[in-house]
Amino acid sequence: MHAVSPCPLLSDSSSPLIDWTTMAAPREPEVIRDKAAMRAWSRRRRAEGKTVAVVPTMGYLHQGHLSLISAAAAASADPVAIVVTIYVNPSQFAPSEDLATYPSDFAGDLRKLASTGVVDAVFNPPDLYVRGAGRRAAATGGAISCLEEEEAAGDGHETWVRVERLEKGMCGASRPVFFRGVATIVSKLFNIIEPDVAVFGKKDYQQWRVICRMVRDLDFAIEIIGSEIVREADGLAMSSRNVHLSREEREKALSISRSLVDARTGALKGNTDCKQIKNKIVQTLTETGGQVDYVEIVEQESLVPVEQIDGPVVICVAAWFGKVRLIDNIEIDTRS
Ligand code: PAJ
Repeated sequence: MHAVSPCPLLSDSSSPLIDWTTMAAPREPEVIRDKAAMRAWSRRRRAEGKTVAVVPTMGYLHQGHLSLISAAAAASADPVAIVVTIYVNPSQFAPSEDLATYPSDFAGDLRKLASTGVVDAVFNPPDLYVRGAGRRAAATGGAISCLEEEEAAGDGHETWVRVERLEKGMCGASRPVFFRGVATIVSKLFNIIEPDVAVFGKKDYQQWRVICRMVRDLDFAIEIIGSEIVREADGLAMSSRNVHLSREEREKALSISRSLVDARTGALKGNTDCKQIKNKIVQTLTETGGQVDYVEIVEQESLVPVEQIDGPVVICVAAWFGKVRLIDNIEIDTRS
């Protein structure tokens, strides 16, 4: 793998961008839309002795997503069959959220995946939920922002996976159905694809930890890999939603990564009081025009809030810049 443009601000904590031109020749992945066909494909790869690795996404792919693919490719000494899923999961969006405007570019995504030369299949199902009677007619049409109506209809989807404590804080506080939707769709994808390995980005730190806990608690025989955050050259964490930022908002949003780097630098010099650190970050983000959802300093694995940094912690931030809610985080270990 070849580093072309490491982020100068966070170079010791973030992945370098990947120059796919130095990798295998472009290769079109097979596009699979049917879940039975997906499961059969996966079982054939396993029968050939391959490790099946999945990278779940909602599409509109960027270098952050592509870095997960390189982590998947390196996941085993055996040959790896890589499946990228592209599915905008309605159940993780509340009715007030941005499902309808979530960006998509399937043709562009396919080109990017082909350029990696290592992706074998793209799973792009039209819909993964059984719709209740009241919604069946509409299921092929308009945006369905969450599945409450299907549940109410009596014969629709009603089984949910909840990771009860980990789903509550941080993003779960302002997005109450989010992790229920994520844990449920990821379980469904795991049951359909039956992978050996799955790769998630640490960009969505709480999501990654929720999935790790779910896999442990429910005995999924799947290795979960957490992959480092990929950033733009100026430090902004890559996100499909960045496309909705105006130039001015994007500039202001740089205060997120900058304040996280400052906090880490300070902590490594001995400024380890979490209240002070959080206040400083809130102040910086607010002064630059952000509206803070939360700033939390938590233990890396349990996500339990701490008052003092004296072990492996992560500072997690969510803030609005204009109409865009951005999340970011930085891991700190003052002992290392
Ligand atoms: P999505 O936002 O498309 O992200 C797919 C994967 O890419 C996630 O694991 C996310 O953490 C990772 N990712 C996004 N930006 C990244 C960056 N800058 N650096 C490294 N990794 C990055 O997360 C979801 O989709 C969904 O919730 C999903 C897990 C697919 C379930 O619907």
